[in-house]
Amino acid sequence: MTVTPAADLIARIRASGHDCAATRRAPPIGTLNIVLGARNGRVSCCSTSAARATDSVEGASEASDPTAPVTAETPSYCLPVQVTWQAPPLDVAMLRYDKKQVHDIVTYGRPGTPMPPWGIASGKGVLNEQGIGDLVNYVQSIQITPEKAKERFTKQLVDARAEQPGKSDGELLFQLQCARCHTKNWSFFDPDKPVGPLPGPQGGGAYGPNLTDGDTLRQFAGPKGVQDQYDWVATGKPANELYGTRGISSGRMPHFGNVLTKEQIQAIVDYERSL
Ligand code: HEC
Repeated sequence: MTVTPAADLIARIRASGHDCAATRRAPPIGTLNIVLGARNGRVSCCSTSAARATDSVEGASEASDPTAPVTAETPSYCLPVQVTWQAPPLDVAMLRYDKKQVHDIVTYGRPGTPMPPWGIASGKGVLNEQGIGDLVNYVQSIQITPEKAKERFTKQLVDARAEQPGKSDGELLFQLQCARCHTKNWSFFDPDKPVGPLPGPQGGGAYGPNLTDGDTLRQFAGPKGVQDQYDWVATGKPANELYGTRGISSGRMPHFGNVLTKEQIQAIVDYERSL
């Protein structure tokens, strides 16, 4: 029997980029090497100066020191790519999804986003059911409280207000919480280096549906429309349940009642209804 050491799990999570806000490695081959090398090598993407990984499976070497600075010898696939968006923090994942949803996200990834599939069940990943289960349990063990999550996201909003004056709270919150799924290329775009694909119109649809041209006014129509939309964003619906006028939940959309305040959710709903 093989017992997976906790450090290995942490390395896998680090390798997936989730614990290093705004840091992402460029080519997928880097990720592949990290996965293969995580058993003995060390991986860090959180040093503020540099994200580093090693493709060595030989154990610790100077090159695998996660705190070592990037030099001219650092292979190009290990170089960090700095972006302004953040991979969603995993210590609130279970506040926004149930366990089965997290299991499926890790297994199948998110098509069209930087989140790759990790499960063998997807036909593309490298982890068996036990590996996925271990990861999901680990993610569960690192959850913070809803109060802490609300504090964190409120601070993010305050920072965003300072960086982008003139935008409504609804728009800023949409950028922070929703755009990575509902705006094409949002997760890839870095306004400081606009060489990559430009994002589509805000809310124009990607992994999640197009919300523009009054979509949500039609989906959540009538006198209870605003409340229905609020409930969808705050608590969501389990897979296969109906929502709105013609929606059927696929169970892929997170819910935000544990991580955002009522006023914040209402501000996002108002913003969406103006798209
Ligand atoms: C992880 C990706 C993801 C994120 C993040 C996300 N959504 Fe969604 N959203 C979806 C998917 C997928 C659907 C389609 C319904 C389904 O599959 O259950 C959806 C559907 C919706 C709908 C219904 C649209 C329709 O016409 O049926 C609304 C409104 C919505 N999302 C709002 C939001 C808001 C507001 C946020 C941020 C607070 C958000 N979403 C964040 C994936 C996401």
